[in-house]
Amino acid sequence: MEGDRIRCLKKLSRALIVVFTLLQCAVNPSLSLGFKNISSEGVVRCFEREREALLAFKHGLVDHYNLLSSWGREEHKQDCCKWVGVHCSNRTNHVTQLHLGWDPLSVSYSHQQKIDSWFIDYFLQGKKMSPKLIELQRLKYLDLSSINFNGTRLPFFIGSLSNLRHLDLSSASFGGQFPSQVGNLTHLQYLDLSGNDFNSVENLKSWLPLLSSLTYLDLSSTNLSNVHDWLEIVSKLPKLTNLTLQECGLPSPVIHSSTLFNINSSKSLAHVDLSHNQCTSPSIYLWLSNYNASLVFLGLDNSSLTGLIPSVIENLTSLVYLSLSYNKLDVVNPHSFSSLCSLQSLYLFNNSLSGQFSEFVQMLSTCCRRLHFTERASTDHYMYKFSKY
Ligand SMILES: *[C@@H]1O[C@H](CO)[C@@H](O)[C@H](O)[C@H]1NC(C)=O
Ligand SMILES: *[C@@H]1O[C@H](CO)[C@@H](O)[C@H](O)[C@H]1NC(C)=O
Ligand SMILES: *[C@@H]1O[C@H](CO)[C@@H](O)[C@H](O)[C@H]1NC(C)=O
Ligand SMILES: *[C@@H]1O[C@H](CO)[C@@H](O)[C@H](O)[C@H]1NC(C)=O
Ligand SMILES: *[C@@H]1O[C@H](CO)[C@@H](O)[C@H](O)[C@H]1NC(C)=O
Ligand SMILES: *[C@@H]1O[C@H](CO)[C@@H](O)[C@H](O)[C@H]1NC(C)=O
Ligand SMILES: *[C@@H]1O[C@H](CO)[C@@H](O)[C@H](O)[C@H]1NC(C)=O
Ligand SMILES: *[C@@H]1O[C@H](CO)[C@@H](O)[C@H](O)[C@H]1NC(C)=O
Ligand SMILES: *[C@@H]1O[C@H](CO)[C@@H](O)[C@H](O)[C@H]1NC(C)=O
Ligand SMILES: *[C@@H]1O[C@H](CO)[C@@H](O)[C@H](O)[C@H]1NC(C)=O
Ligand SMILES: *[C@@H]1O[C@H](CO)[C@@H](O)[C@H](O)[C@H]1NC(C)=O
Repeated sequence: MEGDRIRCLKKLSRALIVVFTLLQCAVNPSLSLGFKNISSEGVVRCFEREREALLAFKHGLVDHYNLLSSWGREEHKQDCCKWVGVHCSNRTNHVTQLHLGWDPLSVSYSHQQKIDSWFIDYFLQGKKMSPKLIELQRLKYLDLSSINFNGTRLPFFIGSLSNLRHLDLSSASFGGQFPSQVGNLTHLQYLDLSGNDFNSVENLKSWLPLLSSLTYLDLSSTNLSNVHDWLEIVSKLPKLTNLTLQECGLPSPVIHSSTLFNINSSKSLAHVDLSHNQCTSPSIYLWLSNYNASLVFLGLDNSSLTGLIPSVIENLTSLVYLSLSYNKLDVVNPHSFSSLCSLQSLYLFNNSLSGQFSEFVQMLSTCCRRLHFTERASTDHYMYKFSKY
């Protein structure tokens, strides 16, 4: 499946996060999820209607590891605000956040089972998402990442959770038609739909521009090969700072600089990752050069880039992280890159680097003060890490 590789990478990075979180929990037990003694407190804050909605939602899940055992109708479980993964507003007592993604659940799992969770593919399986979820009208934060919905469609009613700010459905194995009903969620600031198995998207223009508050967008492994105006559409999200479109089959954009950067264009992109696409059009560089003051992260791995490292890169003077691995790039004039003095990490695995490369590294190491040579697997296979002290 198309999303498999991305799911695998995400799992790896999550495993690291979990180890870190567990370390924190060992130091500070109050951070742990699922270890609260919920029977010892008298006050029940939770609204019955919302409790019933959550129980209906749980009913649509298979909870192999019994991680949601705190969710129940028993006397001592009445307060749904104390259930694993549920957060209520301190002011209104309404349920405002649902954290059922891989990270929080794996922390619960590791505590419960006393073993590491990293070999597990998913903790919860989605049979049928209960429409009662929309009773949670105050919900602002919804993370169902890595629940296995086994290729089913994301229900239409998700578009009615109109208060959502944060929606993470990454690696949840949704399939079928792309859920353009998310365009109804006009307050969204964070949207991650990466690593699912949606059918190819035809029309981004009908829904994405409605999300004018988005700062974070990840649609990795969604087939966007028919969306020829993707660059124009994402550029016009006025608040966008983080854009990740790995392995989307992105077509090379045809743009005219005059059609971008009119009113409402983002002026503050900081993080762009377009790796594993084949979009080699020079328009990409023209576009990137508009973010010379804000762009700190650029990933263009495996992007069919050939020839010289594009000279426009030298104008991206704010870059801290640059990854151009798995291309066929070379450096010709090392000194033209002397402006990249903020760089801390440079990844150039698997390129066609010539002898000029060592000069390039030397130049950067002078300018960046400290060069950390991290790995050198073969003559054209490099990773250098720079850091400043
Ligand atoms: C939780 O509280 C009940 C009484 O309310 C008590 O009997 C029980 O031992 C407590 N459990 C833990 C793990 O502290
Ligand atoms: C809400 O209450 C919890 C528990 O008493 C507390 O940890 C948290 O900081 C409070 N949050 C806010 C925003 O006041
Ligand atoms: C997942 O869906 C397939 C059909 O698409 C079905 O054969 C399989 O049993 C489902 N798996 C689970 C665990 O429900
Ligand atoms: C979009 O939101 C409106 C108003 O909140 C609602 O009536 C409509 O059903 C929603 N559409 C979808 C697809 O969820
Ligand atoms: C992406 O969608 C297009 C158009 O529907 C299709 O031709 C192509 O095979 C799809 N690519 C992948 C990798 O599924
Ligand atoms: C610009 O964005 C604002 C909201 O941020 C929106 O109300 C307005 O319609 C947008 N203008 C255009 C021309 O898209
Ligand atoms: C957005 O990108 C910046 C720069 O790479 C990064 O520091 C930040 O953590 C990213 N934000 C999120 C929510 O991932
Ligand atoms: C490069 O990207 C293609 C998709 O465009 C993918 O199939 C391939 O596995 C990627 N190669 C590497 C080395 O990541
Ligand atoms: C970005 O580019 C513009 C135009 O080329 C230039 O005026 C500006 O000084 C540059 N900013 C930075 C931080 O390099
Ligand atoms: C880099 O910026 C300078 C001025 O800021 C400009 O003259 C030059 O054309 C830019 N180079 C590229 C390759 O865009
Ligand atoms: C570079 O990538 C190509 C294609 O993925 C592969 O055949 C080759 O072995 C790689 N070279 C090195 C040095 O990793």
